[in-house]
Amino acid sequence: CGIVAYVGQREAYPVVLKGLKRLEYRGYDSAGVALINDGSLKVYKKQGKVAELEDFVTGKNLSSQIAIGHTRWATHGEPCDRNAHPHLSGDGKLAMVHNGIIENYAQLKQELLKKGHTFTSDTDTEVLMHFIEEIKHSNQCGTEEAMRIALKRVVGAYVILIVDQDNPGTLLAARKGSPLVIGVGKGEHFLASDASPIVEYTKEVVYVNDYEIAILRADELILKNISNEVQTPYIQKLDIELAAIEKGGYDHFMLKEIFEQPQTIFDSLRGRLDAKQGTLTLGGIRGEYEDMLKNAKRIIMVACGTSWHAGLIAEYVIEELCRIPVEVEYASEFRYRNPVIGEGDVIIAISQSGETADTLVAIEAAKKKGAIILGVCNVVGSSIARLSHAGAYTHAGPEIGVASTKAFTAQLAVLNMIALKIAKDRGTITDQRYQYLLNELDAISDKVATALKLSDSIAAIAAKYKDARDFLYLGRGYNFPVALEGALKLKEISYIHAEGYPAAEMKHGPIALVDEHLPVVFVATKDSYYEKIVSNIQEIKARKGKVIAVVTEGDETIRGLADDVIVVPEADELVAPILSVIPMQLLAYHVGVQKGYDVDKPRNLAKSVTVE
Ligand code: G6P
Repeated sequence: CGIVAYVGQREAYPVVLKGLKRLEYRGYDSAGVALINDGSLKVYKKQGKVAELEDFVTGKNLSSQIAIGHTRWATHGEPCDRNAHPHLSGDGKLAMVHNGIIENYAQLKQELLKKGHTFTSDTDTEVLMHFIEEIKHSNQCGTEEAMRIALKRVVGAYVILIVDQDNPGTLLAARKGSPLVIGVGKGEHFLASDASPIVEYTKEVVYVNDYEIAILRADELILKNISNEVQTPYIQKLDIELAAIEKGGYDHFMLKEIFEQPQTIFDSLRGRLDAKQGTLTLGGIRGEYEDMLKNAKRIIMVACGTSWHAGLIAEYVIEELCRIPVEVEYASEFRYRNPVIGEGDVIIAISQSGETADTLVAIEAAKKKGAIILGVCNVVGSSIARLSHAGAYTHAGPEIGVASTKAFTAQLAVLNMIALKIAKDRGTITDQRYQYLLNELDAISDKVATALKLSDSIAAIAAKYKDARDFLYLGRGYNFPVALEGALKLKEISYIHAEGYPAAEMKHGPIALVDEHLPVVFVATKDSYYEKIVSNIQEIKARKGKVIAVVTEGDETIRGLADDVIVVPEADELVAPILSVIPMQLLAYHVGVQKGYDVDKPRNLAKSVTVE
């Protein structure tokens, strides 16, 4: 979900509406706003995207200097008008938006029902709103105090924002586990789930910490902890520009972000890798953490989704170069299965947003058990980045398209650098190979630029296969996770069922699916597995499957076998995934667009999953 709020001298509704549009990538099942107009609290909300809310309020008097807004990714209750936020208290004087999950809501709801409360939605949010109202009445206290008392009983993760009709100049906010940023302007304040709605108004921000409550007025910002002690807000400068969060002439954010990759990969290497000098410096991994990484007995990658695929590739690279055992874990599994974490274990948490709830909680738990956490995050100042002992930002810039693209290649670039650094520090790599791989990594962004020129020919391939019911994606070695990522991209964007598999393992199941209707995408660039994958292609052709193969320049063998080939420049196998994933992204993009889907906002998905 995305939340946004404003208090100040401007008209609040247009600021909040624009903010909701910028945050829409976080969820778009429904949207709503609450504002105080002529002394009375008004709530407008609608199922569907923010544009539908906008149509719905046309012609209404929305004048107000304070407003809160929400764009929802449903957890409790189906997406509909009734379940959309904001939610009102029973007396209609308080309105609240919420991002997160209140785990003990059922119990709270029972207590409130007994006390005569009635509910109009199925959400946990409305329960919390009524709970705060109940405390306000029974304790005869103000909303701020009631909120503090209520939150002490709440189990779960949340960011909540409240407006109060009896206090029309004050916004209340609280955070635990879900992200919240305050923008500090001149005589005005902004609140949002991330900095994107704020950046065009002010570059001064405060990241609210867990268990903190913010009380905001036009010219006042008070931060307190849950025990009501005033905290000093730490104001930071944002380093993103407005252009970075706008489409800049492209049809979709996804396409813009795919095409940004030569630059974003370069940015993630910049100032760190110097191929000419033969040096590699990671400023965020120094001193004792540098030593711990070098001496790690085991490395555990913890991530979700596309970031998990980056971890899988890094597993192969680190084991090859550093000779340290690596495990790659889904954060959601890792956190609940009482994992064995011992001395000398290093956890690398990979996350574009730095806010994914499962990843965040997984590393919190591991940190308590004494693990060292390295963060590989894209969003500067995000929760995972702040919780990590050390780390390296990916510097891909804001990623808005829900399906991750440029964040993935930046993650691979950074993880490659980490692997090379460890190998060098441990002495498990020869000087010659080290220099060679630095050169290969340095050269990869230009090769990505070459691969992007294939967009039109990949669009033609997409047109040929877009009506297929299923797709199979196969790869071996470093390209196996690329096959997984290719299948994930297609699923996310085009709603075609797609499965990624190790090419050899395909014989143990998926081969049963192969017939003349099944397109099989092979990631088959020249590497040490090449001969083997050629045999796998033959196995598919023998069963009349349609083969689309990503191959290296000059490859005539596969050209002779496949129905369609996509030719990319040559690159060492350790860095090749950064390149071979480009056709995967483009294929999914073109299929999705040709099928008429909104590729930036695929159904049911959210960019940043801040609930478990
Ligand atoms: C969601 C997004 C994916 C992303 C995953 C992990 O599912 O839709 O694109 O890969 O979360 O997100 P993170 O921000 O932790 O990388």
